[in-house]
Amino acid sequence: MTDVRFAPAGRLRGSFVPPPDKSVSHRAALLAGMASEPVVVRNYLDAADTNSTLAAVAAVGALVEHRPDEKVIRGTGLRNAHEPAGPIDVGNAGTLMRLMPGWLAAQEGRTFTLDGDASIRRRPVDRIAEPLRAMGAVIEATDERLPPFTVHGTRLHAIDYDLPVASAQVKSCVLLAGLAADGVTSVTEPAASRDHTERMLTRAGADVRRHGTTVSVSNLDELVLEDLYVPGDPSSAAFAITAAVLVPGSRIVVRDCGVNWTRVGFLRILRRMGGIVLGDLEDPPGPDEERFSPEDPVTDLDVAYGPLTGTTVTPEEVPLAIDELPLVALLGCFAEGETVVTGAEELKVKESDRIGTVVDGLRALGGDIEATDDGFVVRGTGGLKGGEIGSHGDHRLAMLGAVAGLASREGVTVSGMEAAAVSYPGFTQDVSSLLS
Ligand code: S3P
Repeated sequence: MTDVRFAPAGRLRGSFVPPPDKSVSHRAALLAGMASEPVVVRNYLDAADTNSTLAAVAAVGALVEHRPDEKVIRGTGLRNAHEPAGPIDVGNAGTLMRLMPGWLAAQEGRTFTLDGDASIRRRPVDRIAEPLRAMGAVIEATDERLPPFTVHGTRLHAIDYDLPVASAQVKSCVLLAGLAADGVTSVTEPAASRDHTERMLTRAGADVRRHGTTVSVSNLDELVLEDLYVPGDPSSAAFAITAAVLVPGSRIVVRDCGVNWTRVGFLRILRRMGGIVLGDLEDPPGPDEERFSPEDPVTDLDVAYGPLTGTTVTPEEVPLAIDELPLVALLGCFAEGETVVTGAEELKVKESDRIGTVVDGLRALGGDIEATDDGFVVRGTGGLKGGEIGSHGDHRLAMLGAVAGLASREGVTVSGMEAAAVSYPGFTQDVSSLLS
């Protein structure tokens, strides 16, 4: 395990381009794997999680060519994935583990086992097994709910599925299964979650429609995609943005950042707290907008230091800011008044139990924060002293500790900093470049 110390180093200045989006990269590799003709993917994320997805599509018969600035992927087609020789290793990637079975479940007569690292083996798959079984697939999971698990592909039929919790991963899994199922498949969520799958499927020629928080897809023969571009990841950019908002005198520009409305919930919360973030964020669609945009919008964001006040994050906001909620907790430590996050039980089943790890971690640095059943309550105390924080193998916790260190009075040592490479291998270099 690597210990790295992040000492207060003054203001952040300059500009940087965030790494390519992890969610979009996973989907690009999977949909290219499902397509019949070669797909060129530009700006694919070169990180542990998304490399697992390239290896996974290769394991079922896709060819992946690594060029300097792009990947070229020749897929197997929607219904022709090969049965691999052994288990598919998803590594630490929950998105891969939850999306890929949607495709595999429709491979008639073929069997696939998925497994991953110690963190993955604690993350539930019953949430995808339930709808896939309802569509006709046969699935066996460890203790009925955990990896390793096995998918026996079959001819699927369409369902209308009501998701108990908003989850883009589960929604996407059902939509991918729906592509090869007989009929029109629909998924209804309690609140909107990220819509990259819907956009990319629209680009690939699928008939995907939205009515409120219900999304439907019709089956089709093949996906037709020529090229895909992956925008900068707003969830990765959120770390430097938070540092710039918290360290006096900072002003940075984030270039080419994805601003899909389903991904910028954090920036809206930050603005509400008084943070200065200039740039056009995509607006949510109107009530009659049935079709999805085939693109993810990008823009430059201008971010500056400023005083913050506490806020309450509501359950509807949670899916649109789910991966950034640890940063909301950190912002709350510096804000005036109370910051409350509700309706975020899902944090417990992320790469670590992010209610427990965030609350314990920030408390150890001097934060006044308490866990609740579905989130946390933070009382702002004007800053953090500093100390030590462990990543628990969770990439976002490692980077949270780093940002806390830059904004703290005495600095923070992060143990297990190598976890950042799951989504953001260049994190430490990018932050250093903004400090020099
Ligand atoms: C993701 C969806 C979210 C998010 C994860 C990536 C995706 O999970 O936390 O990091 O790419 O679909 P849930 O949809 O399960 O909440």
